Amino acid sequence: MDNNINQEFDNKIKRLTKSKTYLDYCEEVYGYRMYLFNMMDEEQLDFVFDSIMLSEDDTVLDLGCGSGSILNALVKKCRCFGIGIDQLDSDAVEIENENSQYLQGDIDDFINFQLQPTVTLSVDSIYFSRDPEGLMRSLCGVKNNRIYLFYSQYLFDDHALGKRILQGNFTKVADILKKLKVPYEMIDYSKNERILYEKSLCALEKREDAFKNEGNSDLYEDKIKEQRMGKNLYDTGNASRHLYIIG
Ligand SMILES: C[S@@+](CC[C@H](N)C(=O)[O-])C[C@H]1O[C@@H](n2cnc3c(N)ncnc32)[C@H](O)[C@@H]1O
Repeated sequence: MDNNINQEFDNKIKRLTKSKTYLDYCEEVYGYRMYLFNMMDEEQLDFVFDSIMLSEDDTVLDLGCGSGSILNALVKKCRCFGIGIDQLDSDAVEIENENSQYLQGDIDDFINFQLQPTVTLSVDSIYFSRDPEGLMRSLCGVKNNRIYLFYSQYLFDDHALGKRILQGNFTKVADILKKLKVPYEMIDYSKNERILYEKSLCALEKREDAFKNEGNSDLYEDKIKEQRMGKNLYDTGNASRHLYIIG
């Protein structure tokens, strides 16, 4: 990702993690009072918190961890060791206790960190890789690494690719896994994401003034534009969401 986009992400997340209105919005939309920047609804978050078997012996890597909310919750609940990688400045991230570590860097440099996670989580971050195939190869190459990859496939130009890419076994991620001959399981969360966009728009619209009063009108406008676009992609049959489970 180029430096300007990096900076933009950084500033946006930094400001949103200081916004009470955004936290209220998150609680309503995601069902958890934590700062999140993804398309996880409560059911998907519950899957992460309750269905991924973790013990104190596990090391969980959260690739593109954002503010660190999901990783922190897992570390707290399971007493595993947590490692978050993101390009965000460390003051936008709240990963700091003796059981976790934040590494500021590029997800594509995963291999250079020489980590040995036993569980890797990627929540809406694989889109930002310059080389998703190389990244997946490295992740799958780590012995005993269970990988959970939440990925939405959006189709912006249906003439070029055809709708087949929206099917779970034909998304860009599925294609890479097949090419690497890596077996996977899959859960379809498309219905969840469609509803999440609707819920998100409602939760945002009723907080327009609250965002404005915090001096965050621009963040409100950006967010509503992004969510309308997502809803429109679902309304026109151009989006899908899946969790890929490897290992
Ligand atoms: C859609 S957000 C998801 C954040 C987090 N996983 C969550 O669920 O709230 C994508 C995250 O990827 C990070 N990111 C984007 N490009 C990156 C890169 N090249 N290397 C590391 N992190 C990156 C962004 O800073 C952002 O925190």
